[in-house]
Amino acid sequence: MEGNARLSAIWEASIGKLQDVVREFHITQDELHAAGDYFNRLGQSGFSRSLIDVALAMTSVDVIDGARGGTRPNLEGPYHGAHIQRPDGDMLDRPPRPEETRLTFSGTVRDAATGAPVRGVRLDFWQADGEGIYDLTGSHLRGIVISDDEGRYRIRTLVPSDYSQHDHDPIGELFRAMGRHNTRAAHIHLKASLDGKVYLTTQLFMPTSAFLGSDYVAGAVSDDLVVAFHPDGADERGKPCLRADFEIHLAGLPGNPPL
Ligand code: DHB
Ligand code: FE
Repeated sequence: MEGNARLSAIWEASIGKLQDVVREFHITQDELHAAGDYFNRLGQSGFSRSLIDVALAMTSVDVIDGARGGTRPNLEGPYHGAHIQRPDGDMLDRPPRPEETRLTFSGTVRDAATGAPVRGVRLDFWQADGEGIYDLTGSHLRGIVISDDEGRYRIRTLVPSDYSQHDHDPIGELFRAMGRHNTRAAHIHLKASLDGKVYLTTQLFMPTSAFLGSDYVAGAVSDDLVVAFHPDGADERGKPCLRADFEIHLAGLPGNPPL
């Protein structure tokens, strides 16, 4: 019978490693059945993908994409969508809530090999709001901007909050049972592409998050992906605004489009 040899090898290797765990911890059949029941609940909740991401995505990213140089890649997570263009860089579809702080996020896109600015790069951003909630039905705090002739980009957005949306599903259940929290450090997602090819998927972390040292996606946060905040005047509400700059270094570009 024809079969997928890679799948077969991965199954054998995975089960072999899990058999070691069963031996090491003397895991009983009752405990194995409890694990099976847990996976049934996890599947019904629709969050199997999220748990696999939490446990393994950063290992995959570091091994496959991280070796190429440039800005460190990071996991895509579950909430990327089909986004609209934001020619003026304004990502808000509704006014900020009282507790939300405006953030201008800007920088230059550069070729990691030469340091030269790169124009025409499609930068796709998405993030949670000031309550840590992603807009899953509209395009609030989601959108695409294009780097200009100097390779510069700029979005006007809000400071996202830490994200903890799994309190009432099997992911939260597992982390609570282990005595751990299930919160992600506040972050802004970014996908950079040129001529239809994706060169970078990453996340930029907010320096004010209390979870930078304990993000429940192990290995996601690194110092180079934490942005710095600077005061940036006040908005129409008189509320102080912030600004952050981040240089995006793209590895593997075919050749710099001429400026
Ligand atoms: C999860 C959520 C995110 O926003 C993310 O970037 C990665 C993982 C999650 O739901 O586990
Ligand atoms: Fe996210």
